[in-house]
This record gives sequence, C-alpha cells and structure tokens, in this order.
Amino acid sequence: MNIAILPGDGIGPEIVTEAVKVLNALDLKFEMQTAPVGGAAYEAAGHPLPEATLNLAKAADAILFGAVGDWKYDTLERALRPEQAILGLRKALGLFANFRPAICYEQLTHASSLKPELVAGLDILIVRELTGDIYFGQPRGRRSAPDGAFAGSEEAFDTMRYTRPEIERIARVAFDAARQRGKRVTSVDKANVLETFQFWKDVVSDVHKDYPDVQLDHMYVDNAAMQLVKEPKKFDVIVTGNMFGDILSDEASMLTGSIGMLPSASLNEKKQGLYEPSHGSAPDIAGKGVANPLATILSAAMMLRFSLRQSEAADRIEAAVKTVLAQGLRTPDIWSAGTTRVGTTQMGDAVVNALR
Ligand code: IPM
Ligand code: MG
Repeated sequence: MNIAILPGDGIGPEIVTEAVKVLNALDLKFEMQTAPVGGAAYEAAGHPLPEATLNLAKAADAILFGAVGDWKYDTLERALRPEQAILGLRKALGLFANFRPAICYEQLTHASSLKPELVAGLDILIVRELTGDIYFGQPRGRRSAPDGAFAGSEEAFDTMRYTRPEIERIARVAFDAARQRGKRVTSVDKANVLETFQFWKDVVSDVHKDYPDVQLDHMYVDNAAMQLVKEPKKFDVIVTGNMFGDILSDEASMLTGSIGMLPSASLNEKKQGLYEPSHGSAPDIAGKGVANPLATILSAAMMLRFSLRQSEAADRIEAAVKTVLAQGLRTPDIWSAGTTRVGTTQMGDAVVNALR
C-alpha cells in the first residue's frame, strides 16, 4: 500500500502529521513518501505541482492531501497559484468522482447554524463531478467582445460543457453509492436555463433506467440551495456538476456544525484516489497548533476503505473519532461550554489512544 503524502500549505502539514500518526498506529504496513505541493512547492521548486510530485502521485495507490493556498500568492499569475496543484492533480489522474459526505455528529448538533432538530442525524452524500464543466471547458480567456451590445469592449469568457460519457459515469457512481445507503438520488441541474444542464438531466434519467431500485428526483440548483437549509434531511445522495457541487458542498458542510470534521475522496476509474479534508489551508491559524485534524483523519479512513480495501481499519478510525468526541475533546472550531478544549496534536494523540 503505497501512499503519497502531500501536506501543502497553511494548516496542511499539521493536520496531515496527525493523520499519518493515526495510520501508523494501525497494524498495517504502508509505504509513505512525502512531496511538496501548492505554495510550498512553488517556494521549493517554482511550480505548485512539480513534475516529481505529480509522478509520485501517479505511482501511488492513494494520495493523502492536506490543503493548498495562501493570500500571499494571490498576485501570482493563475498558472502558478497553489489552487492549480489540486486542479492539475484532478485532471492528470482523472479524478472525476468526488465524494463529500456531510454528516452531523450527535455531539456536534448544537454547533450547526441551523436548529438542532433540523440537523440531528443528518447524513448526506454529495457526489460532485470533478474534471469537467466550466472548470475545465475550453475555450476560455479574454478578448475583445465579438458581438452583443458591448461589441469591441474587453470581455472574459469560460465554457460550460459536458459530454455524455462524463455524465453517465458520474451518474453511475451516484446510483451505486445510493444503493449502499438510502436509495435516493437528487440530481441537481439548471435545466431551465442552461443547455448543458438540460443534457445533464436527460443523461442522468437515461442511466437511471439501469437502477429501478433507486429513486431519482431532479432539482434546480437554486431550489437545492434553499432546500439544503430548509429541510436538509430530505436528501440522501446529491449528484451534480463541478461548479454547482463546489458551491453546494460548502453549504452542506456548514449544516454539520464544522467544516473541520468533513473528509472527502476523489476517485478515478481505477479507484486510485486523492483524499483531503473538505476545508482549506486556513493560513490565519497555521502554525498555532489549534487546527482540527479530524477531517484529515477521517479522510485517511476513506482512503483505507475506497483505495486500499481495508474497510475494517477504516471502521476502527471512524469509531475512534466518535470516541474522542464522546470523551468531550474539542478543538476550538467545535468547542462549546462544558467540553474540553484541545490542540491539534492532543486531538491526534487522543484518536491514537482510542484506537488501542
Ligand atoms: C474545492 C475547492 C477547489 C474547487 C479550489 C481550491 C480550486 O474550492 O475543492 O472545493 O473549487 O474545486
Ligand atoms: Mg470549494
């Protein structure tokens, strides 16, 4: 089991250290190699995704990724910004299927910005298409507007596009996932306005014919954004395109009380995967030892389950996380009166102890 460790920027190195500690506490043998990515790689090698890092990632069975980004790189040209590392890895490895679970842990029900009864027991899975859509569509750029009311003015444009096979494969991923859970899929689109998403809706409906045991609903993205805060427990699996998935997954994460708790997995056709917390690099708290490592630790559990076929070890990690929450241990982002405030390292140590 060959794992590429890419800690990245901000709190990335701190939280990845804790996840590696947890992996090493299992009685399994891993081959781990670390490489710089994002701003850290730009500093070290002049590029956010150096060839050596990309090659290491390609050769690995799985990638454990921290986070990338820092305001200090905002003025760099786009191709050199830290975010290009994660976009480049997704594209180069064909990581088209992004799983973002939004689970509200019993002990954190009161940390949500919604009323506790709306989120207690919440368990949604967002399946986001990750290598197509307006994120990667060509052509894109800046030019002089060729037509319209402002012809001749400076303009910028991107292209939203999806091919049938891209929609089919992500729809299958979502229906297969739903079969393992509540057997309901909500496909989110903007078919009332966009050609691309009328096509999306049609193709998802076609694929659904192979899944008569799964219920399929279609919902416009604006309505989905509203329903997520109105009645989030109505959802089971949400499947959507790259950009809508980016937005809705951030929204869904907040329902659970803390983005610091949510793992994610991005898989390709070979089940090779990149695993990362759903949150970002949080440069404002980097180096202070207060970041919540649980999302990364839970991402390591997803990695064991999806890419390394060690579901028993994954179950053990998830149980250990529940144990430390039940013990009342909280990093500042999930702290509330009556619980014990701990730092990043203490939280990691507590998970290791709970494993034993
Ligand atoms: C995410 C992030 C990325 C995205 C950025 C960092 C490129 O927001 O993983 O959701 O937009 O996909
Ligand atoms: Mg995002």
